[in-house]
Amino acid sequence: MEQRTLGSTGLTLAPLAFGCAPVGSIASIRQSTKAMEKAFDLGINLFDTADMYGLGASEKVLGQVFRSRRDRVIITTKCGYVYSTKLKLVSKLKPLLRPLVKRISGVKNAAARTIKSETNQNFEPQYIRESVESSLIKLGTDYIDIFFLHDPPRTIIERDDVFQMLGTLRDQGKIRFIGVSGEWDVCLELMRPEKSGLGVSVLQIEMNLLKQEAMDRILPLAKDSPIGLIARQPFGHGTVLPALRGSDRLTRFKLQDDPRRLAQLAIRYVLQSPQITSLVTSMISPQHIGCNLEALEMGPLSDTEQRFCRSWADEAESSNAS
Ligand SMILES: NC(=O)c1ccc[n+]([C@@H]2O[C@H](COP(=O)([O-])OP(=O)(O)OC[C@H]3O[C@@H](n4cnc5c(N)ncnc54)[C@H](OP(=O)(O)O)[C@@H]3O)[C@@H](O)[C@H]2O)c1
Repeated sequence: MEQRTLGSTGLTLAPLAFGCAPVGSIASIRQSTKAMEKAFDLGINLFDTADMYGLGASEKVLGQVFRSRRDRVIITTKCGYVYSTKLKLVSKLKPLLRPLVKRISGVKNAAARTIKSETNQNFEPQYIRESVESSLIKLGTDYIDIFFLHDPPRTIIERDDVFQMLGTLRDQGKIRFIGVSGEWDVCLELMRPEKSGLGVSVLQIEMNLLKQEAMDRILPLAKDSPIGLIARQPFGHGTVLPALRGSDRLTRFKLQDDPRRLAQLAIRYVLQSPQITSLVTSMISPQHIGCNLEALEMGPLSDTEQRFCRSWADEAESSNAS
């Protein structure tokens, strides 16, 4: 599989990466383990988790799956969200709740809303240190390849003490590279040359057909930046494909209104930018893994596909803005 180099880190990544948000939450440990094994066997080498995914279960499962071949995968995790005691108690009911979340439409979104409302943020340096220590234990490793601040507000990227702590953890070898995973406007700020002293090596940003402004603002700057760029959520967490399906524009451009083709188009649209090293998506079912990896074999977008995507994305953005 093609490999791309991540900014000035020297890390080489497959263009698709495995998002571990469903691991140990909506996907069971068995399903998640199978999906990770399959993705790894097919050439995926970056696995992106966070301390909050599955309320800790995601890091544990990821660590268990790759414990015996740690040097063959790039593990990224994040800190910043803190969940309430109520949420910790509810997490014990996960095995009972999982079938409901899968079967009853709307329950998945309701669960996501509950998690959000029961979650606060903490980026205090001491908390960051404790989070790194705790993630190392859960992952069963002695280093984290990229450690991201998870959705920090703008005020946090102004704080030198936060980045000094991350620098110390990097100097101690607990993390290899410092990253920020967040809103595109906060990330844009971090690409300014004045911010280079903070030591941020990697940014992770949502980029898809419904996030055209993020792509237009970030990608030109990324060309000359030493910071490596990882994109995430080609399907906009389930919003892109329903919006694409049934579009009149597909007929006008003589493109197939076929779910598999559209998923592949969504992936290829983001990956056509050479500034993006890897694209993180959640894919648990073998069908999704197969479909998404097949997209990598399909080559660049044709002129027609390119014109379709751009005009569709622009229209989606302007109707969003109005
Ligand atoms: N702030 C942050 O740092 C942040 C925020 C969000 C996500 N993330 C990272 O990004 C990853 C991806 O996020 P996400 O799951 O929200 O967004 P996403 O990758 O855009 O959406 C994934 C969903 O799309 C569907 N899907 C996947 N492959 C498909 C295919 N070939 N055809 C049709 N549908 C397909 C699946 O939904 P169904 O299973 O329901 O069909 C899957 O759960 C996460 O796992 C996490 O690692 C980071």
